[in-house]
Amino acid sequence: MIVEADTVKAETDTEKDEMMRVDFSPPDITEAEITAVAEVLRSGWITTGPQASALELELARWAGVGDDVAAVADCTTAPPRRAAVFSSGTAALECALRLLGIGPGDEVITTAYTFTATASVIYHVGATPVLIDCAPNSFEMDYVALKEAITPRTKVIIPVDIGGVMCDYYQVWGAINATSELFSPTSGTLQEAFDSVIMLADAAHSLGASRFGHASGSVADFTAFSFHAVKNVTTAEGGALVWKRHARLDDETVYRHLAQLRLHGQTKDALAKSALGGWEYDVALPGYKYNLTDVAAALGLAQLTRYPQMLTRRRELVDSYVKGLDGEKVQLLDHRNEGNGSSCHLLMLRLRGKSQTFRDLFIQKMAQRGVTTNVHYKPLPLLSAYRQRGFDIRAYPQALAQYQNELSLPLYSKLTDEQLAYVCASFDDVWDECAAAGV
Ligand SMILES: Cc1ncc(COP(=O)(O)O)c(C=O)c1O
Repeated sequence: MIVEADTVKAETDTEKDEMMRVDFSPPDITEAEITAVAEVLRSGWITTGPQASALELELARWAGVGDDVAAVADCTTAPPRRAAVFSSGTAALECALRLLGIGPGDEVITTAYTFTATASVIYHVGATPVLIDCAPNSFEMDYVALKEAITPRTKVIIPVDIGGVMCDYYQVWGAINATSELFSPTSGTLQEAFDSVIMLADAAHSLGASRFGHASGSVADFTAFSFHAVKNVTTAEGGALVWKRHARLDDETVYRHLAQLRLHGQTKDALAKSALGGWEYDVALPGYKYNLTDVAAALGLAQLTRYPQMLTRRRELVDSYVKGLDGEKVQLLDHRNEGNGSSCHLLMLRLRGKSQTFRDLFIQKMAQRGVTTNVHYKPLPLLSAYRQRGFDIRAYPQALAQYQNELSLPLYSKLTDEQLAYVCASFDDVWDECAAAGV
């Protein structure tokens, strides 16, 4: 018996040795990031400070809303800022809504097909989320339904750049412009600077993307990025808000308000307070604790320096997936169509003609081969929190259909060609096995 058990164990170990392990989205960290973080740790200043400010300038440049950093470095006065960093993308979204004075009685429209953070921040500020179904056979929201959902209570629309593909912002602006006579800003709030519903893009996935020549960050009034550990650029946890130049908004006023919201409403940041004799401060509003540390910001700056190469690699990998997967079996999220410079964040696909049971078995069988896959996303009305707040999945048939056979494959800049080939080969084997199982 003992010998038999050992033999079985040895065979299993051999199988494991032969099996390639492919994680879903590990971070791409090199010595450059480790050195940058170590330098901050040695510097004597580790929370929000010069690294966070440098990251803000760099992000504004990436988002196409910043001034030229070299020119800024020559300035004797502080450069106007159009980016503020936060402890998460969720905090950035929430603070954008708070900056705009969104609250009870206001409606904020977004898509049913997103991560919960997009909609939970609407609840956080006391406003009402309005969720739009997907367009048929698309992960993007139905822009016709979007236009029809705009009412005098609508203050903000949050489009979501799913998987790194920017939304069709022409359509979103079209809906906003066509309904501008309905817009009724709450008096005494920043909403009064706008003539129509305000656009806050959830660009958690799309830093570095463009569509029709416009960079992610430069299209909506405000744009929120995430630097969560699985994102293209990471600070472990972190986020940022960028905004476009606007005739009736003063950038420094916007920046100062956001800086107060993210750090207890204090009129001075921690660095200014720590200066010799600089202790005194006021609290302008009961703010939040959403600041990004300099340790995290240094990681983000090092990542941004390498991001052009990382983006190129992601795009190459998407092209390899397009070649390596059978188009008869899968419908891939279109990262590479004309006019679309996707950030290639997620390799989302639909298993053509297959059921949720097939998809779920598929995920298990890929896991048995050492390949971690994922599902993006369970539509919000399927989740308890949203169901309990009155959302009914029957009103979202397109989102449900997209979800039921959606599968996301590993995609990250460190993924090797061999790993990708292994994922594609496993995909075909698993497809046959699931088909043979009759699910
Ligand atoms: C679409 C979307 N929006 C918002 C967020 C929130 O970002 P964070 O995790 O940085 O708060 C995420 C994070 O996964 C996301 O995927």
